[in-house]
Amino acid sequence: MPYEDLNDEATYQRARAGQILRETPDRLRSASVDCRTADGRAIDDRTRDSEAADDVDDRTVDDRTRGGEAVGGEPSASGIVKPLPPELFIEHETNAEMRWDAMGDIGFHVPNNRFFVRNHTSTPIIDAATWRLRLHGTGLNGPRSFGYEELLALPSVTRDVAIECAGNGRSLFTAQQHQEVAGTPWRLGGIGVARWRGVPLATVLERSGIIPDAVDVMARGLDPAYVADGVDYGRVRRPIPVAKAMRDVILAYEMNDEPLPPDHGHPVRLIVPGWIGLASVKWVGDIEVSTSPLFSPWNTEFYRMFGDAYPPQGSAPLTTRGVRSAFELPWNATLVAGRPYLLRGRSWSGNGRIADVEVSLDGGATWQRAPLRGPHVASTWTRWQVTWKPTETGRHLLLARATDETGAVQPPRTTHNDFGYLFDAVVRHPVTVVSR
Ligand code: MTE
Repeated sequence: MPYEDLNDEATYQRARAGQILRETPDRLRSASVDCRTADGRAIDDRTRDSEAADDVDDRTVDDRTRGGEAVGGEPSASGIVKPLPPELFIEHETNAEMRWDAMGDIGFHVPNNRFFVRNHTSTPIIDAATWRLRLHGTGLNGPRSFGYEELLALPSVTRDVAIECAGNGRSLFTAQQHQEVAGTPWRLGGIGVARWRGVPLATVLERSGIIPDAVDVMARGLDPAYVADGVDYGRVRRPIPVAKAMRDVILAYEMNDEPLPPDHGHPVRLIVPGWIGLASVKWVGDIEVSTSPLFSPWNTEFYRMFGDAYPPQGSAPLTTRGVRSAFELPWNATLVAGRPYLLRGRSWSGNGRIADVEVSLDGGATWQRAPLRGPHVASTWTRWQVTWKPTETGRHLLLARATDETGAVQPPRTTHNDFGYLFDAVVRHPVTVVSR
């Protein structure tokens, strides 16, 4: 390892203290979101969903392990099944992000045991042999269901896709922009690229008799209902428009050539390329297809932009992710003056391929183009590297600024939003150069 691992926990903890607002800000609570069907009826989606939730076939979920008891009997406080060694992961309650400074030995794909986990509650243990995927709703000729083996027998696709949490980089609103935001204080490790294999969602929808009037498709997970501040929001579910569902969404059952691990959605999850990670619903139990727009708290109360720069009901529900970059370096890494370093990093965008990456080694005063290396595929990430032989001791800021194929470029600042979503500003990565 060319670098000492001196993650500055003190700075991070200060940032974290300012960020985790246990209570959702009052004005968010009272912000009413207009949830209406196409014919103008207001939808009380909590009532509707709790009725629908009664239909969910729970028999495939092992109740003994659903509460987060790890395989092998050791209970896990996070509700995550796989081991989370602290040198590889940073835990945030029910979630775990990967450490960028541990990425040096990781190639293009993040192995399953190193992939970040974002769980609203806890990982359920689901028996694929008895699991069934139910499709229902006004957008189909009639209800239909598929067993695991039936899905495996359908024509499959394999695709490299990044999953990234909308809150990835949230802690930087505080650490870099000195702003308060609510939510899990992710650094930049709420992202990973894997090779996913599964059935195109379009195939399953077509075989279920989707009708031309269908507009929305909503998958629902089999993990426990999400309860926050005494409010039961039901199971995680989030609609996507039919056009997106039919274009490139996968019902995945393999991750990096292995059956999906429990934490990543076993037996089947959605993979929604380019969109915020939430859309890639894990542990899918049922899919509603509707001829009128569908709503859930995940597209009305959460995963919209709220705040001074946005209307009271929030922005439109979040879909694609922006452009971002990270160095594979510890935060506040220590480097020795006069020694040559190979600085590696990755950039990614929900809009398409990365076109260009520039790096500044002097706090933004001058920029150089970073050569791109390895696969260069849309909906994933692109690796790059630059060499640096620091000469001056002291604190330095390293910056990486990517541009994607649509021309979108990382801005110097991200417009504040109360939940700290989609931090895409150029990150000012601190390092300290010492004389020996
Ligand atoms: N699906 C269900 N059923 N429950 C969840 O909590 N979290 C979502 C999404 N799908 C979630 C879910 C979010 S916010 C993200 S970022 C991704 O899963 C994370 O996927 P991963 O844990 O496999 O990395």
